[in-house]
Amino acid sequence: MRLDKFLVATGKCTRSVAKRQVRAGAVTVNGLAVRSADINIDEYADTVTYCGEKILYRKYTYVMLNKPEGVVSATEDGRDKTVLDLLPDGVRTRGMFPCGRLDKNTLGLVLLTDDGELAHRLLAPKSHVKKIYRFRSRFPISEEDARRFENGLVLEDGYETKPAEIRLDEGKDGGIITLVEGKYHQIKRMLEALDNKITYLERLEFGPLTLDATLARGEWRYLTDEEIAALETHASRA
Ligand code: URA
Repeated sequence: MRLDKFLVATGKCTRSVAKRQVRAGAVTVNGLAVRSADINIDEYADTVTYCGEKILYRKYTYVMLNKPEGVVSATEDGRDKTVLDLLPDGVRTRGMFPCGRLDKNTLGLVLLTDDGELAHRLLAPKSHVKKIYRFRSRFPISEEDARRFENGLVLEDGYETKPAEIRLDEGKDGGIITLVEGKYHQIKRMLEALDNKITYLERLEFGPLTLDATLARGEWRYLTDEEIAALETHASRA
């Protein structure tokens, strides 16, 4: 693999920064500073450092996206922009997809990856990965409705939801919801079962991942090594 592609793929920098850093001597391959980013390296066998830090090659790509409104959680769509359309070429890999879907108008944390096996384990119903959302509802939620929400509701199709958590703000028309499952339009349908309506929904956490507050809507970043390790630990418990 070309050195500049390797540096971009490992999330260290963009291709133009890679070229500059290599020219400046910030990159070594097997202990020697290299001056050209278009050399080929063996990404599995060679030892590469970037600004003194050894970098690990990853077979797969893991990206955190702060999803804006109006974008669909799909790999392609004939009409709407997809979460993958928000990634620049070179970041988006073949086989990348959103690990779990948010509705078109839901905002916040989406994990994108081409690691199908890890995603499969995280999304398996038995894994009970926690998802935390900030929400607002059209009407205040009574204590009784909050208890119904927490104990499990019957949705319009007869499905009985697993116990969830709801923490209400002072005004009772918003707060934080925690789910351990991810059925289609789940929160929307749970509020509908209470004759209420979601007016704002944002995912803040997915398993061990927390939405990076420095990412503006529509922005993304690679996961850190620690975040990837936490996902793997999480998935292996599933
Ligand atoms: N529940 C919903 O209703 N919508 C989402 O996007 C996520 C959870």
